[in-house]
Amino acid sequence: MRMNDADGAGAGLPRPPLAALADPAVLPDPYPVLAALRAASPFAEAGGALVVAGRHRDCSRILRDPRASSERDRSLLAPPQPGPPSPPRRPASFLSLDPPDHTRLRRLVSKAFAPRVIAGLEPRIRVLADELLSSAGAGGPGRIEVVSQLAYPLPVRIISELLGVPPGDHARFAAWSASLAHSVQPRFLSDGGASEAAAIQARNEFAAYFRELIAARRARPSGDLLSELIRAEDDGQRLSPEELIATCVLLLVAGHETTVSLISNAVLALLRHPGQLAALRADPGLAAGAVEETLRYDAPVQLTARIARGGMQAGELSVPDGAVLLLLLAAAGRDPEVFPEPDRFDIGRAAGNHLAFAAGPHFCLGAPLARLEATVAVQAFAARVTRPELDPSGLSYKPNLNLRGPASLTVGFAGIRAPQHHSR
Ligand code: HEM
Repeated sequence: MRMNDADGAGAGLPRPPLAALADPAVLPDPYPVLAALRAASPFAEAGGALVVAGRHRDCSRILRDPRASSERDRSLLAPPQPGPPSPPRRPASFLSLDPPDHTRLRRLVSKAFAPRVIAGLEPRIRVLADELLSSAGAGGPGRIEVVSQLAYPLPVRIISELLGVPPGDHARFAAWSASLAHSVQPRFLSDGGASEAAAIQARNEFAAYFRELIAARRARPSGDLLSELIRAEDDGQRLSPEELIATCVLLLVAGHETTVSLISNAVLALLRHPGQLAALRADPGLAAGAVEETLRYDAPVQLTARIARGGMQAGELSVPDGAVLLLLLAAAGRDPEVFPEPDRFDIGRAAGNHLAFAAGPHFCLGAPLARLEATVAVQAFAARVTRPELDPSGLSYKPNLNLRGPASLTVGFAGIRAPQHHSR
C-alpha cells in the first residue's frame, strides 16, 4: 500500500479495496472512498494489469497522452478470445476508437455540437423546461419528482429532436439505453454475465431500430442530424452503415444518461445548500457557475479508462503495455491540490478545470449542449419553484456507479410560478 501524506482529503486513511466502489451502500456518497483511493494513487492491482489514477494531475496527463488508447477491447484484462482472432461483431462507436478512425468519425458530427450551433437551441430548451415545470405545478401545492418530470425528459427530447428520432419512440429505447449505460461499467463493478447479455440484446434492438429509421429517412430526408449523417454515408466511403448506427446509438445514449444526472445533481446540491440556492435566485447569472461546480463536485461520469501503450508512466509507476488505466474523474474533481476545500459546494468558485467531461481528443462532444441544458433547467427551477424542500425518503440512486445519478429525487414545494425569461 502506498500513501501520500501531502494529500489533504483522504490522506491517512487506509486504502479501501477498489471493489468498495461496487457496494450499493456507497452509491449515495462515494466521495470518502474516492478520496482514500485518490490519496493512495497511482497504484497497481491485478499484478500490474490495472493501474488506478485519482489525482487531477495524473488523470489530466493520461487523458491527453496519445499513447493512452481508448480501444478498451485490447486490454490485458479483456476476456481471452478462443481460437484465431475474429473480427469484432460490431464496430465500436468513436468513443472507443483511436485515430485515424476516431478523428474521421468525430469530425462528421462535431459541427452539429459546436458551441455556436448549440447556443441556437437555447430558446427551444427554455420553452421545454418551462413546459415541464408548468405541468409539474399544474396540480397546485405539491411535489415534483425532479428526475422523471424535468431532468430526464429535457435532454432526451432535445437529443431526439436534434438527431431526428420520433418523440413517440422514447419509451422503446429508454430501457435499451439504460442497459447500454450499465454495460460501460468496468468489469470489477459489473455483475458480469447478466448485464452483458442485456447490453448485447439492447445493442441489437437499437441497431434494428435505427436500420428501420435510416431506411425511412433515406426515402424522405429532412433537416436533422440523422439525414446529414445519411448523406455523409451516401457521399462515399466516409461512414459505413454500421458506423452510422454506432454513432446514432452513441449520441442517443450519451444524451440520455449523463445530462439527466447533471441536472438532478445540481438541484440536489442546491437544495442541500439553501444559501447558494438563494444566491442563484437573486442572480440567475450564477446558474452557469452552479452547473460547473456540480460537474466538479458530483460528476455524472465518475470514471473512465484507457489502455496504456508504449511505455507509459502514471506518477512514478511504470505501466506495462496493455494495462488498463482506471481514471477516477470524480476523485480528480475533489483533489485538494487543485480545488481548495474540495468538499465544499460553492457556485462562485469558477471550477472550470474539472475533468468531468474528460480532456484531450475524447473531450466530451456534448459538453456545450449538456452545459446549456443544465443551466437553463437550474435557472428555471430556482426562479419558479417556491419553497422547495428535499424529501429525503424520495432520493434513490440508479444502480450504476460509473454513470452515477439519482433514480428519483422528490421535492415538495409551495407553488410553481409562471415562467419568466432571464438572460444568461
Ligand atoms: C453532463 C453531461 C455529460 C457528461 C458528464 C459527459 C461526459 C463525457 C466524458 C467523460 C466523455 C469522455 C469519455 C472517455 O473518453 O473515456 C464523454 C465523451 C462523449 N460524450 Fe459526453 N458527457 C455528457 C453529455 C453528453 C451529451 C449531451 C452528448 C451528446 C448528445 C455527449 C456526447 C459525447 C460523445 C459523442 C463522446 C465521445 C467523444 C469522443 O470519443 O471523441 N455527452 N462525455
